[in-house]
Amino acid sequence: MSKVVIVYHSGYGHTAAVAKAVARGATGVADTTAQLIAVADIDKHWDGLADADAIIFGAPTYMGSVSAPFKAFMDASSKIWFSQGWKDKIAAGFTHSGSQGGDKYNSMTQLFTLAMQHGMLWVGLGLMPGNNSSKGSNADLNRLGSSTGLLTQSNVDQGAEAIPASDLRTAEHLGRRVAEFALAREPVAA
Ligand SMILES: Cc1cc2nc3c(=O)[nH]c(=O)nc-3n(C[C@H](O)[C@H](O)[C@H](O)COP(=O)(O)O)c2cc1C
Repeated sequence: MSKVVIVYHSGYGHTAAVAKAVARGATGVADTTAQLIAVADIDKHWDGLADADAIIFGAPTYMGSVSAPFKAFMDASSKIWFSQGWKDKIAAGFTHSGSQGGDKYNSMTQLFTLAMQHGMLWVGLGLMPGNNSSKGSNADLNRLGSSTGLLTQSNVDQGAEAIPASDLRTAEHLGRRVAEFALAREPVAA
């Protein structure tokens, strides 16, 4: 049995919807449980993170960075960093924004760096870029063409219902991929 935890912040529900799609993908893998943890509740869940096999970090992009509440979670995780409590756990990340680009890559770099500081094993998206040729469209998986992690986007004047189905399918892919890696890997001896 493996346990995937998705830790996320969402100010207006968009990143939460993506987080749910990531969890759906993970629970579609046999012998896998997925737990969603909003950073607002993190103080009740540090133990749950300690026994996770994989942690997927998700934040909206605000002002070209992860949102402030997610950054507060990152800073609070320094108490785990001191003892390298998440070392060798699998990690992955996602960020949602209003613009197609929106400087999301900076947020992804923050998520990746967080995982690396914790000594985790980063799993990228593992998909070729979609929507980048004359045959492509917004319906493609990975329509925003990321490799490091999952990038999703929806209009700033619409709610989570406007998130393209292709982005949610790409989110399910990430959850599935992380769950498969978590199941497949042997624990690394210290
Ligand atoms: C304070 C703030 C800053 C934002 N900065 C950016 C930004 O830098 N780039 C971008 O594309 N969208 C930006 N947005 C739009 C959000 O990324 C977008 O509305 C997203 O869907 C919010 O996700 P959430 O509902 O999970 O909070 C910003 C929104 C807010 C509230």
